[in-house]
Amino acid sequence: MSASPLLHWHQLPHAPVPGTALGPIDALPDGVPTLRELDTGGGPNQPFRLLLLRSGAEVRAYVNRCAHFGVPLATRQAQLIYQPHASITCNVHYARYRWTDGSCESGECEGESLMSVPLSQSADGQLAIDPGYDT
Ligand code: FES
Repeated sequence: MSASPLLHWHQLPHAPVPGTALGPIDALPDGVPTLRELDTGGGPNQPFRLLLLRSGAEVRAYVNRCAHFGVPLATRQAQLIYQPHASITCNVHYARYRWTDGSCESGECEGESLMSVPLSQSADGQLAIDPGYDT
């Protein structure tokens, strides 16, 4: 059983606007997912939760929201379950998602994916939600 399907990250409550700054790539460890909570107007109890996955010079962003029950894969950095550059696993019922595209590899997420959030990176390594993304 899966959470009700939502097609795009920007349809979620308090989704960040395109262009939202996410800081420098150098602040992200290579091969270790980074939890990021954005204050996008939902108040302190309802941050917009992202997972930032860096592999070398590339960073992918997914909404920290399991396709199974729609809850975070983890709410604390120390709770993250992952294989560097390969996969990230929900710590509730252990659905596993592919690092490179967020697709389900095994567990309670068959046929589904993490929601990918498009990023941009400036020449000096500053990351942002893709400012050219048309919601
Ligand atoms: S909530 Fe069940 S696997 Fe994530």
